[in-house]
Amino acid sequence: MMGRAVDERWARDWAEARLRPGRLVHVAGVAALADELASRYGEDPAPLRLAAWLHDLLKEEEGPALAEEAVRRQLPPELQAPFLLHAAVMGARARDELGFPPELWEAITYHPIGRPGLGRAGEILYLADKLEVGRLYDGVEELRRLARRDLKAGLLATVEAIVAFEQSQSGPGRAVHPLTLAWMETLRRG
Ligand SMILES: [Fe+2]
Repeated sequence: MMGRAVDERWARDWAEARLRPGRLVHVAGVAALADELASRYGEDPAPLRLAAWLHDLLKEEEGPALAEEAVRRQLPPELQAPFLLHAAVMGARARDELGFPPELWEAITYHPIGRPGLGRAGEILYLADKLEVGRLYDGVEELRRLARRDLKAGLLATVEAIVAFEQSQSGPGRAVHPLTLAWMETLRRG
């Protein structure tokens, strides 16, 4: 990953070479919605598109190598859960090797769960990941409408919907991540 110009074309080529077709369609959808939301809310869309192309690049590599890389990069324990590794390790590579500013690498790191105080780029990437056009769950169209009209309201409603879904699925060992619950509380307080 080093020694290359880090731009959207590079990230897109890498995604196209590595990801299976269904995931590539998802990632393209995330890039499109992230671009739209960034433009709508006065953010530079180019870094958001770049983060979107990168956000799931390691999702098909989950396993011991990513876990070892998480330890080597000294990621905090709460980011070393198996379902978070693809995001946390990609965020750390963006930080350590690609020179991303904190708001952008944190957007990648926290895209599966959010966290209190996540920056605007993180909010947009989270929404784009959960609401891209390929997402088909109940209520997603209303969430998309709301997110296009009012970023904060759309974000809170989306986090609440995701938490409600995860709680409905919860069994032993499948609790909602505490950072997501804390984020929801801070968003509710405005
Ligand atoms: Fe994703």
